[in-house]
Amino acid sequence: MLHPQSTEISFKLNNGVSVPALGLGTASPADRYSETKEAVKAAIKAGYRHIDTAWCYGTEPYIGEALKELFQEGEIKRSDVFITTKVWPVYWDKVSESLDESLERLGIDYVDMFLHHWPLCYPKVEDLVNGISDLSRNPVDSMNNPIYDPKGDWLQTYKDMEKIYLDPSDHRVRSIGVSNYPVEYLQKVLNQCSVKPVVNQIEMHPRLPQLELNKFCHDHDILLTAYSPLGSNGAPNIKIPLVQELSKKYGASANDILISYHIRKGNLVIPRSLNAQRLATNVGFVFLSESDIHDLDNVGKTSPYRYIDEDFAAVVPGFTGRDKVVG
Ligand SMILES: NC(=O)c1ccc[n+]([C@@H]2O[C@H](COP(=O)([O-])OP(=O)(O)OC[C@H]3O[C@@H](n4cnc5c(N)ncnc54)[C@H](OP(=O)(O)O)[C@@H]3O)[C@@H](O)[C@H]2O)c1
Repeated sequence: MLHPQSTEISFKLNNGVSVPALGLGTASPADRYSETKEAVKAAIKAGYRHIDTAWCYGTEPYIGEALKELFQEGEIKRSDVFITTKVWPVYWDKVSESLDESLERLGIDYVDMFLHHWPLCYPKVEDLVNGISDLSRNPVDSMNNPIYDPKGDWLQTYKDMEKIYLDPSDHRVRSIGVSNYPVEYLQKVLNQCSVKPVVNQIEMHPRLPQLELNKFCHDHDILLTAYSPLGSNGAPNIKIPLVQELSKKYGASANDILISYHIRKGNLVIPRSLNAQRLATNVGFVFLSESDIHDLDNVGKTSPYRYIDEDFAAVVPGFTGRDKVVG
């Protein structure tokens, strides 16, 4: 049976907006930010129509350069590509400013999806960011412990995003959503806000299948976006024995198995690569059987692992601690 490529599959968000299931992740290492420009161009030429970025990644200007050239060359037009960016906790009470900065760096006048990056609030502390004085991305005290804004209210950030989305004269965002939200935080949003998030972007892969969040989100018509699907730097998930086994069984690459796992479950997935050849070849969709998906879900029971384990996230229940991982 012939299947489409992962780049050809789209889902509908709960507000009716269509989103390509496969997006390009762009949280590149700091010394390779500028390579993001060519990666975006290669990804678009390989059929990607969805790019994931964030205010704090440092890659927005390079994505902007790539888009400008792609638009000028007539390769795509703005409406052909779905672009996501995010507001970082240092801008928890300056959502509109953060959005304007992102739009300026990206060189566009709207984003398709605007996400609350973490349900946290940082104080605004000047620091050296890549050698330039700027707001510290992760403020810490003299003992290197993360510090939070004592006046902070993470729900306020979502409420401010909602205001922008609902303002009929403001056309800067087409959808709003969240990232790194546990069930109880999502429940608070559902109870206290009028706009349901369209997605919750979280770390998710066979070693961290997030079955409880998956059920809660799908029960409430919220899609999940899987970040670090390959296991982040170096793509360690490719070596998972079951992934290797399924790669042989289906005659597909291990990368395609890891990506198709999410799309088959009706979720979005945003792998990162700066390698043009990988971007061009790793777009095969594998129609995994129900029992193979069940077996992949179970990998997290025997060898659970969280790759993105940030100290600053310790106050968000269930979003840190490799030793406390539950599938
Ligand atoms: N919301 C959040 O808090 C959050 C957190 C983390 C990430 N994210 C988003 O999710 C995206 C993806 O996550 P990630 O960047 O952590 O990691 P990832 O996509 O799981 O893995 C990226 C790594 O895999 C390598 N790779 C890609 N394809 C490969 C292949 N076929 N064979 C071998 N290696 C391969 C890449 O190297 P090459 O470049 O050499 O190919 C890179 O080192 C991010 O870029 C970002 O957009 C969001």
